Amino acid sequence: MLIEENISLLPYNSFHIEARAKHFVSIADADQLGSILEKDDGKSQLVLGGGSNILFTRDVKGLVLKMDIRGITMVKENDSHIFVRAGAGENWHSFVRYAIGRNWAGLENLSLIPGSVGAAPIQNIGAYGVELKDVFYELEAYDRKNKKVYTFGLNDCAFGYRDSFFKSGEKNRYIILNVTFILNKTAVLNTSYGAIREELGQMDVRTPSIRSVSQAVINIRQSKLPDPAEIGNAGSFFKNPVVDQARFQSLSKDYPDMPAYPHEEGSVKLAAGWLIEQCGWKGYRKGDAGVHQRQALVLVNYGHATGKEIFDLGEEVAASVKKRFAVGLEREVNVW
Ligand code: EPU
Repeated sequence: MLIEENISLLPYNSFHIEARAKHFVSIADADQLGSILEKDDGKSQLVLGGGSNILFTRDVKGLVLKMDIRGITMVKENDSHIFVRAGAGENWHSFVRYAIGRNWAGLENLSLIPGSVGAAPIQNIGAYGVELKDVFYELEAYDRKNKKVYTFGLNDCAFGYRDSFFKSGEKNRYIILNVTFILNKTAVLNTSYGAIREELGQMDVRTPSIRSVSQAVINIRQSKLPDPAEIGNAGSFFKNPVVDQARFQSLSKDYPDMPAYPHEEGSVKLAAGWLIEQCGWKGYRKGDAGVHQRQALVLVNYGHATGKEIFDLGEEVAASVKKRFAVGLEREVNVW
């Protein structure tokens, strides 16, 4: 286990921001964590998964732990379900492909999401009508405080919209080591999302399968979202804002075409991308920082933007949405 010094984090973040780590270590085995963590002060540590949901605005003056724990194992099965465990460092989409290749259903709507398996529960990743919590069984995490490994079941994780116990409850206390998923042997496909139905129609698919739904999701994502390998980005920069009924009613009087989706307890989720587009930001570019041309919820780095430039653009975007719609936008991306 090698601790490297003064490492560039550019290859480790999908925004392609230049930032440096004073110390950097790749963790391939949970047993390595205890000895590594004893040596550092904790405050300046950063745990990095796929680096697809982080914006660096400064260097890391301490230690970056890159989670590289690998391995996919079927832990048990019954008549209807497969329980499969994946190491935190597995690439998310490779894991999805692994399951689809075996005809295990449940992950297909979550195809092509950048990032790692270990980061997925932290923000309860979601797309096209499915969230991680729908296929989650349990996870193992290292507790930095008690220096032990604990198992968390579904009810321990407090999953919400792009939220979990690991994001808002005990942020930074636990390091996720592996995640076990419960997948279906018989496909129960979720094609309720309009865009999936339309895409399946375009693909001329009459009887959808795990594979065709995955392909439809891949096609939609590729048509709308910039590929981080080509243009730096971290997917949605903001969460979709949730407002109460009264606020929604008053907004929809002024903007009858505004997209809106029912949320928990009578609240309503608005489409941040729509709000941002209405404020005229779609396709905006200042230097190398920009708002994506096909999806205004995604901020992009066209080349050499700094984290600060992207951050400031995000602040300007949020301020203009606040001014026009009196709706606050909360960042989805983590800022370091
Ligand atoms: N819209 C616009 N203009 C835009 C972008 C969107 O008018 O520039 C409208 C669309 O026409 C649609 C609505 O806003 O009526 C919603 O757009 P879309 O279906 O593209 O999804 P989203 O709400 O912008 C969310 C997730 C995505 C996920 C998609 C599909 C969040 C923050 N984002 O985006 O997740 O892929 O739904 O389920 O919830 C991510 O988290 O990084 C991410 C990409």
